Amino acid sequence: MPETKILAPTPEGIAQAAGMLCKSALVAFPTETVYGLGADATDNHAVARVFEAKGRPTFNPLIAHVPTLEAAQQLAAFSETAITLAEAFWPGPLTLVLPLKHGSGISHLVTAGGDKIAVRVPKGDIAQRLLRATGRPVAAPSANPSGRISPTNATHVIRGLSGKIEAVLDGGPCAVGVESTIVGFEQTAHVLRDGGVPNEALEACLGKPLNKAPETDTPTAPGQLASHYAPNARVRLNAKAANEGEILIGFGATDGDLSLSPSGNLVEAAANLFAVLHMADADGRPIAVVPIPEHGLGRAINDRLRRAAAPRT
Ligand code: TXA
Ligand code: MG
Repeated sequence: MPETKILAPTPEGIAQAAGMLCKSALVAFPTETVYGLGADATDNHAVARVFEAKGRPTFNPLIAHVPTLEAAQQLAAFSETAITLAEAFWPGPLTLVLPLKHGSGISHLVTAGGDKIAVRVPKGDIAQRLLRATGRPVAAPSANPSGRISPTNATHVIRGLSGKIEAVLDGGPCAVGVESTIVGFEQTAHVLRDGGVPNEALEACLGKPLNKAPETDTPTAPGQLASHYAPNARVRLNAKAANEGEILIGFGATDGDLSLSPSGNLVEAAANLFAVLHMADADGRPIAVVPIPEHGLGRAINDRLRRAAAPRT
């Protein structure tokens, strides 16, 4: 495989990226949440290479990215509740897991052979332009080696996947910084993964409290595996201060060597989360993190931090 190309987010760069995707290449691209590792979702061979590049266990399904609700309806059967959520939050950091439509042309590897598909309409301008130019659904997990910290800029992507993918479209840092919220519909809507749309916003839209996801023994999302988003160093949570030899990640009034948000803003903290973890990891010292409030985007942040701190599997 030749070196991974870095493409500028110009009309030419985007056209080139779209052309490469249509020829079975793997192209990482920015979304408003994190960088995705894109492949033509109708191309078995390209999708298989995504698993190979990430070193990801193949039983984990992927999210199909499309530019509009109408395009998503070509792939999945939407209930009334699903339409309500899509109209409220798309384009945006929400993924819906819905029954796969027959004849969608989606590679069975995208759904891991199942009858449900995860669909998302991302908000980032570059992602939107790329999806429109590609003209077919793009399967994209986060563009990091499996189990490692998610990428929120092109440098993170290159650090993890250089030489394993054809190109990365460099659109600078991601605005939201944590992955999309995943909502499934078993009997009623429930959150499968906390993410960029806070629970409070989903509940306000639906006008009722969300049901907890049904408990399962087998995690359906790798984001649900205990050890995920793992830095090389040990991570200690809810630290009041750094112990000797630790690097401290602060928030709000509690200053550290690094800070998720000096002003204590959870939106800013989410946007900075993975970049700060990448920086702390490069430092090499064990990592301590101060407490983060458990509301709004704090739920998604704490979810990722708990997984970063979990014993490695
Ligand atoms: O923000 C995001 O969602 C990013 C950007 C690139 O869009 N993507 C992302 O993809 O986080 P990934 O593969 O790292 O996480 C997607 C999650 C996985 O945990 C996967 O198991 C779950 O979505 N998923 C995908 N298809 C599913 C399905 N049919 N049923 C249940 N879960 C599914
Ligand atoms: Mg991921």
